[in-house]
Amino acid sequence: MPKIKDNRRVSDYWSRKAKEERYPARSVYKLKEVNLKYHLLRPGSRVLDLGSAPGGWMMYASESIGPHGLVVGLDLQSVKMKLASNMRFKQTDVLEIEPELLVEYGPFDLIMSDMAPATTGAKDVDQARSLELAVTAFELSQKLLDKGGAFLVKVFEGPDVANFFNDLKQTFKTIRRVKPKSSRQFSPEIFGLGLNFKG
Ligand SMILES: C[S@@+](CC[C@H](N)C(=O)[O-])C[C@H]1O[C@@H](n2cnc3c(N)ncnc32)[C@H](O)[C@@H]1O
Repeated sequence: MPKIKDNRRVSDYWSRKAKEERYPARSVYKLKEVNLKYHLLRPGSRVLDLGSAPGGWMMYASESIGPHGLVVGLDLQSVKMKLASNMRFKQTDVLEIEPELLVEYGPFDLIMSDMAPATTGAKDVDQARSLELAVTAFELSQKLLDKGGAFLVKVFEGPDVANFFNDLKQTFKTIRRVKPKSSRQFSPEIFGLGLNFKG
């Protein structure tokens, strides 16, 4: 990775690496970094991936959980890659999804959300929409996670994020706030990680 604090060059580095390693998006390296540190994805894990297109996180999860695991992806947009046998995908709006429809695939060991709103350029609006997506992911996690499971969620930094993290603290034994190296330095995104769901 380039040592200089040049946002564009760092970004190009991750995009090039994704292309070389045949991942559909550079965002895969954010999940990879968190996973290498916290071991979220294990052989046989059941994973729900919210905001999964174009499919980088699904692909990495699929490789990590192996043939006995399952990764279920949901996104507004379709994914173009070929689905491996341990992948399922549904094109849908997570804000509208009925959790009951997902029960047959769970309970999940990991629920992860890389969902991001289409940005408007108005910081307050974008933050509010990002928080709405993160809160929806959190609500789903409370219904669909197995006891002891983990939750990884992207949210744009903003005034209400501290309250959101406090809510996570009530539900998980351990909470971490993560800014992966491959996340653009000036991007407002951060990740919340909840470990050991209290159930
Ligand atoms: C940064 S991309 C995800 C990249 C993905 N993790 C990967 O590795 O390929 C964010 C995704 O969130 C999705 N998204 C945003 N709002 C959504 C919603 N309400 N329901 C489902 N997906 C949503 C977008 O369509 C977009 O594909």
